[in-house]
Amino acid sequence: MATTKAWVLHAADPRAEATRGQLTLEQIPLRRPEAGEVLVEPRIGCWEANMEHAIARHPVDVARQRGEDRIVLGTCGVVRVLATGSGVSGLREGQECLWIPFGAIDENGYAERIAAYDAPGSPGLLSGRFVTAARLLLPLPEDSRYPAERWAPFARYFTAWDNWRVALRCWQAQGDDHWDEPPLVLGWGGGVVFAQLELARRAGFRTAMVSGRDSRLAGIAASGATPIDRREFPDLDHDAAKASGDPDALDRYADSRDRFVERVRELSGGRGASIFLDNLGGGLHRVTLRSLARESVLSTVGWKHGMRLSNMRAVECIGRHIHVHTHAWRFQDCRRIRDVQESTGWLPEITEPVASFDAIPQLADAYSRDVFDSYFPLYEVNA
Ligand SMILES: NC(=O)c1ccc[n+]([C@@H]2O[C@H](COP(=O)([O-])OP(=O)(O)OC[C@H]3O[C@@H](n4cnc5c(N)ncnc54)[C@H](OP(=O)(O)O)[C@@H]3O)[C@@H](O)[C@H]2O)c1
Repeated sequence: MATTKAWVLHAADPRAEATRGQLTLEQIPLRRPEAGEVLVEPRIGCWEANMEHAIARHPVDVARQRGEDRIVLGTCGVVRVLATGSGVSGLREGQECLWIPFGAIDENGYAERIAAYDAPGSPGLLSGRFVTAARLLLPLPEDSRYPAERWAPFARYFTAWDNWRVALRCWQAQGDDHWDEPPLVLGWGGGVVFAQLELARRAGFRTAMVSGRDSRLAGIAASGATPIDRREFPDLDHDAAKASGDPDALDRYADSRDRFVERVRELSGGRGASIFLDNLGGGLHRVTLRSLARESVLSTVGWKHGMRLSNMRAVECIGRHIHVHTHAWRFQDCRRIRDVQESTGWLPEITEPVASFDAIPQLADAYSRDVFDSYFPLYEVNA
């Protein structure tokens, strides 16, 4: 049987506590494409949070959950068609495509399981070649104006498009069409929020994004959003302050919170954020709520700092705060979002080097330590 190289993650020993795993370079079997399938070779992938969750085996050991000894990760990137099985139309050898990693799709078009993550048996981009269902391949536009590197982080952009669409419609549901001055859209998180803020800016909103590193603050400013340096507000995490046991910690939290909210008010004509894009949650939730204007939206597609949140329902009702929760995007919107990207140039600038296939473990390690300047860490599988 044919084989191909792959960075493999093994399931933890079921008798031991699941600790952080490691990627090992191995040869894995490669089968021929059957009816409705395509053999592809990954070109460029973008590292994603789900890959870190899988390697960290937190909150679950994904390989063990899938009932497999070893799995191949890699959910987001550009692949090239090598051969098609019978009954496949619209795809030809050499064509570059986005690989949509929807392992199981519900009747609304939402992913219930992600291929190369929690969908059993599914391959991923950390392999030299793999076989996939043809329907998961979305061809890049013919003669695209943009290189594969700029398409590779597409999942963050597709997610951003979907969440922004819902957030904007919710905000419009109770706001006026007439603006005296542009309302503020504020965000914290990573690449998804960065992409959403660009949509907000193009829709005429004033935008601002929070970061704690100089390189990202410069990138935010270059994109046309106002950078907010979170190092000026070091104690915004209420839960951390409360859990610390330090009697002064809650005072320091209140000081950071009040100064942050004051900054938001300065940027928004005194009103507060009309839409707050928050993919962090956890102990930052209180500050996001405080930063909201009346008739505003708190919109999220992530929970990096914690997913159990509480709020005062009366305050949220009186403030007319709409809370939006979304996840990924609808499968049937893929072509539409790709076409928006191509026609409007809404794609990331890639400024950092692309990691080689051999350097993928180092990339995984750097991602786990959150030390990238870029919001879109890329790796190359096949040149
Ligand atoms: N459900 C979905 O469809 C979906 C899709 C994509 C992502 N997500 C989830 O969304 C979450 C965020 O992912 P992401 O890719 O947007 O971000 P990310 O790359 O994981 O980075 C989060 C960043 O938040 C920044 N940050 C800003 N303000 C902060 C503050 N006050 N305290 C701490 N950090 C702050 C930090 O950057 P600085 O150092 O620059 O401040 C940090 O690097 C993850 O949990 C991910 O799994 C979900």
